[in-house]
Amino acid sequence: MDKTAADKDIIQGRAGGKGLYEALAEYGGSDFYPYHMPGHKRNKDAGEMAAYFGIDITEIDGFDDLHHAEGILKCAQERAGRLYGAEETFYLVNGSTCGVLAAVMTATERGSEILLARNCHKSVYHAAILQELKPHYYYPPLLGEYGICDGVDAGAVDSLLAKYPACKTVVITSPTYEGIVSDVKAVADVVHRHDGILIVDEAHGAHFGLDDSIPDSAVACGADLVVHSLHKTLPSMTQTALLHVQGDKVDRRRLKDYLGMLQTSSPSYVMMAAMDCCVRYVEEHGPERFAYMRRQYESFCTKISNCKYIRIGKMADLSEKRHYLADWDIGKLVIFVRHPSMNGPQLYHILREKYRLQMEMAAADYVVAIMTIMDTKEGWQRLADALCEIDDRIEEENAVGMAGMEPSPVHGAEWPAAESVMTPAAAFRSSREKTALSKAQGRICAEFVDLYPPGVPVLVPGERISRDTLTHMEEYLQAGLKVQGVSAEGEIAVLIQGV
Ligand SMILES: Cc1ncc(COP(=O)(O)O)c(C=O)c1O
Repeated sequence: MDKTAADKDIIQGRAGGKGLYEALAEYGGSDFYPYHMPGHKRNKDAGEMAAYFGIDITEIDGFDDLHHAEGILKCAQERAGRLYGAEETFYLVNGSTCGVLAAVMTATERGSEILLARNCHKSVYHAAILQELKPHYYYPPLLGEYGICDGVDAGAVDSLLAKYPACKTVVITSPTYEGIVSDVKAVADVVHRHDGILIVDEAHGAHFGLDDSIPDSAVACGADLVVHSLHKTLPSMTQTALLHVQGDKVDRRRLKDYLGMLQTSSPSYVMMAAMDCCVRYVEEHGPERFAYMRRQYESFCTKISNCKYIRIGKMADLSEKRHYLADWDIGKLVIFVRHPSMNGPQLYHILREKYRLQMEMAAADYVVAIMTIMDTKEGWQRLADALCEIDDRIEEENAVGMAGMEPSPVHGAEWPAAESVMTPAAAFRSSREKTALSKAQGRICAEFVDLYPPGVPVLVPGERISRDTLTHMEEYLQAGLKVQGVSAEGEIAVLIQGV
């Protein structure tokens, strides 16, 4: 389009038909002078970040308003919805965190009961605190020798909903952080039979349903509300995410109101343009990029198949009898190391220090690498080569990499259900103090305590700290693993009893 036509579009507020980035770039390149926010005024002298300010605007004519979208942002959100086959889709500029908060708060009444998969993200627990909910938990079983959480068993959800009939909202995470995909359809059928709402935190599965070679999205499997972090597994900017709504069980007016309260009143156009570009990129290049990713994954698996001590978790290696694990996402390489001289944190450290490969995380006996359609051939190759070399020289590697560190893998263990003494919200409001782990037995926990594996909070505020839990925590700390909720001095937050 020539400049005059673009100018006319801007003046007449006709940005609606275009991609958001294109419209912003046209506006940034025009001679419109900004007597509006943001304060950098797109001035090239505005410091080191000035090069990024060109398309950073606020709600001006022609650029719509996320909280009352009627133009270009409405079109962009509809485009995103079409990609996933969703009835209605909302842009989130505060990550899946904000989508989860809005979804849970919409689907529950204040003080009501809720069924949560225990391995839910902290945002789900935070929603439970904000809404003063009384949670009941589904503890996912462990996936055999891998020691990580398995998918959600629809039969167990059925029993729990029968036991707690006041629970009308269920939240599960699928895929998990390690890429374990639940049979969402089976879970949705059960939840709907109990007249409930199913929220699926699919933050790690924004790529799901976008190609036949990867699992279906929860959007197509009957979930009522689905959250996607675009930034985690697709080419988009950090913080960008989507919330999808299906069916008539969710009060959409209330959902919009909560989004209006939980999202900033100045949503970043840079982030929103990144979401639109991401959606357009997948529409245009998805098929070839997903096919390419599948080829890279298979060649990676072939390369490391001769490793003796290192292997990746794969659907194909699991028993066919499993009925609640639907799939294992190929975008999550869970790289297990099984040798007495090396554990997960050591492998993580060697990959980083010696091979300059930065993993997503380390757990007791594995590390996680996130792979997406944007990973280069070099990225796949360097990791495969490094793993083969480490496997060949595993004793030597360890001696060089982590002298002095205790190489004792802690395998995920079934956790006893913690005794809940009060709701997380009541514990949140109570006075607290720090105490040494050695003195914590019997006290009521004031903060979340998380560890991997199995990737579930072992303690939620309001739960009693048992001897068993303390033993597990001490084992993890001895293995060099981070236990979130325990300070470097070995202290934990507990409620001040009698207050
Ligand atoms: C399962 C899960 N849900 C939700 C979130 C929150 O996502 P975001 O970082 O997009 O807010 C995370 C973040 O790591 C997550 O792992």
